[in-house]
Amino acid sequence: MFALHIALQGCLRGSDVQYGINADTGGHIRYLLGMVEASERIGKFDRIAIATRAFDSKHGPEYAAPRERVSAKTEIIRFATPNPDYLTKEELWSEVPAYADSLIEWIREQPAPPDIIHAHYADAGVVAAIVREKLGIPYTFVAHSLGRIKMDAFRDSAGLENPDSMESLLRRIEIEERAMGNACLIIASSRDEAEFQYSQYKNYDPGRIRIVPPGAELAAFRGAPPRLQVDRLINRFLTHPEKPALIAIARPVAKKNLAMLVKAYGESPVLQEMANLVLIAGNRSDISELEPEISNSLSEILHLIDRYDLYGKIAYPKVHLPSDVPAIYAYAQYRRGIFINPALNEPFGLTLLEAAAVGIPIIATDSGGPNDIVEICKNGELVDPNSPDEIAEAAIRILADPALWDAYAAAGARAVRRFEWRSHAKRYQRLAEAVVGSSGMAVRQPRELLVSDIDNTLLGSRDALAEFSEWLAGEPDMLFAIASGRSFHSAMSVLEQEDAPLPDIMITSVGSEIYYRAENGPEYQADREWAEWIDEGWDRAGILAALQDLPKIRPQSPLEQRRFKLSYLSPGNPQAAAEIAERLMAAGLQGTVMGSHGRYIDILPPRASKGTAVEFVRKRLGLAARQVYVAGDSGNDVEMLRLLPNAIVVGNFCDRLRGMPELDHCHFAPRRYARGILDGVAYFRGVNGEEALSVA
Ligand code: GLC
Ligand code: MG
Repeated sequence: MFALHIALQGCLRGSDVQYGINADTGGHIRYLLGMVEASERIGKFDRIAIATRAFDSKHGPEYAAPRERVSAKTEIIRFATPNPDYLTKEELWSEVPAYADSLIEWIREQPAPPDIIHAHYADAGVVAAIVREKLGIPYTFVAHSLGRIKMDAFRDSAGLENPDSMESLLRRIEIEERAMGNACLIIASSRDEAEFQYSQYKNYDPGRIRIVPPGAELAAFRGAPPRLQVDRLINRFLTHPEKPALIAIARPVAKKNLAMLVKAYGESPVLQEMANLVLIAGNRSDISELEPEISNSLSEILHLIDRYDLYGKIAYPKVHLPSDVPAIYAYAQYRRGIFINPALNEPFGLTLLEAAAVGIPIIATDSGGPNDIVEICKNGELVDPNSPDEIAEAAIRILADPALWDAYAAAGARAVRRFEWRSHAKRYQRLAEAVVGSSGMAVRQPRELLVSDIDNTLLGSRDALAEFSEWLAGEPDMLFAIASGRSFHSAMSVLEQEDAPLPDIMITSVGSEIYYRAENGPEYQADREWAEWIDEGWDRAGILAALQDLPKIRPQSPLEQRRFKLSYLSPGNPQAAAEIAERLMAAGLQGTVMGSHGRYIDILPPRASKGTAVEFVRKRLGLAARQVYVAGDSGNDVEMLRLLPNAIVVGNFCDRLRGMPELDHCHFAPRRYARGILDGVAYFRGVNGEEALSVA
């Protein structure tokens, strides 16, 4: 395969990149080169070219050189545009048409055109869109950062007074829309990016976005040892320096929410008894001379330390060197501490990977990137960053249970391998191959459809899943669908991680969203008619308002809230679903309310459930009810088990499914997890076969 990367910004060269030499020579170049180098090493690409722009500048003649060989298979090619000068990312747009012309000409001269183009950042995306239009070469897109998110951040800090920056951001957003709209597949770094950040765009299309986490540079952190100097830096604050340390490393800006951590610690005498708190909050000499946001946060923290009288229990060193950071984690690792990231929102969460590499459990905000990290690494717990109680409870739970601490520490250290460029390159390569081979046609005409829940039905036992996958591979006329409470990207991540078969159809967010996979391709298409149909009678805002002050329930993390799904947690309140239903009824609001596992509550539009979604898909495919099998284990599966005749409950079911009169027709499989699905299919094929015989 021949891959062409396009990246127009900054001072890009094959080695010794001068990061920070100007505003646009930064992270995206590191990403590109890390990915390309690993791509070459995995050996699946015959040729890799990186197309960038040629310019004259004080930075040196190498940026005007038309060719630069990087390695045996990789070269950088540079095309000049009418403006010969270095241009910032805000200025590049004017050169895009001329750039695309030169690139197209070059491609035509090659012995074989690239099989795939990977466009880095918005303007490269538009170049790729033009190339696709002219030459039909498919492209994938990685935005690196998004204008809309930057605009929101600016708004929050009232930084948009400058009309130029507003104008250029609006232009960038338009360019991003075009780049996204025409891409075969978009590569995101996290669920937050895939499900929240991109959803702010008109051309948002979740089925064409896949999460492939970038490589993180963790070599310095793996098994890092403590260092005496760093120990001293911290210990001089502490009366009992031998205690475990709860440690946070973050710039003290408001959204990092460090004050909440101090509050959580200050309000819990139990936690203070068990551990010290260590805050590594940037460097300072005189707080009053720092920028206002930072000096305000630091003042608030000092104020809280005094209010809760935390002297001798909390360390907040004034300065540290970047090279101290691995030893700071090691300080906590040695004392069996915990790394805590309480940010209000954390787009990715590199510090959590660093902590995992050193081998300490984490407690992290449930908003943003940490969702993915905890799901993949299983190295700690997510908490509501606005709840000091939850933060303290999680810390106490982990500190009090050495086996749990060990399990989190070991799992994290093992799993961070998935965040290496090598894993990224391999996953990208597989997706790229699928993009190249995609015929983009609708789902084939099947004879049967199998719809399985994910958690504790399809997944739960690796051996059972392996058996199931082998069986499915021998069933060419069986379409495979999943129906899950998870969102599309959460479901996709866990399926990929567990190496489950790629579904032909994904029914996600408890049935409120339906996606169909393109034939042979990696991309999915959302069912817009389903969305329109379930919109009827759905008053999301009304429901949110009606439930605001209901005690003993709290919203799940922001990523679990979808256009057609509101989700809560109700630990220890088995009546919650009934109470919510009553409250909605009293307020004249309609919704499907469902409880699962005694703690999850989902509220969906009145027409939506896994059951109605399966029925919708079944009719679309022109299948009779008897040609469909459904399998599940818990409360949110009841609707689909109830509505379909070939309904399978796996052996490890919960939520008292046995004994529900509406599930009398179900086959309660003797075996657990995915083996239970096999039991059920065999059972119903037998029964249906006999019936067919007796009719004949
Ligand atoms: C999944 C979803 C969650 C939902 C639960 C039950 O865990 O992530 O939001 O409440 O399923 O449907
Ligand atoms: Mg389940």
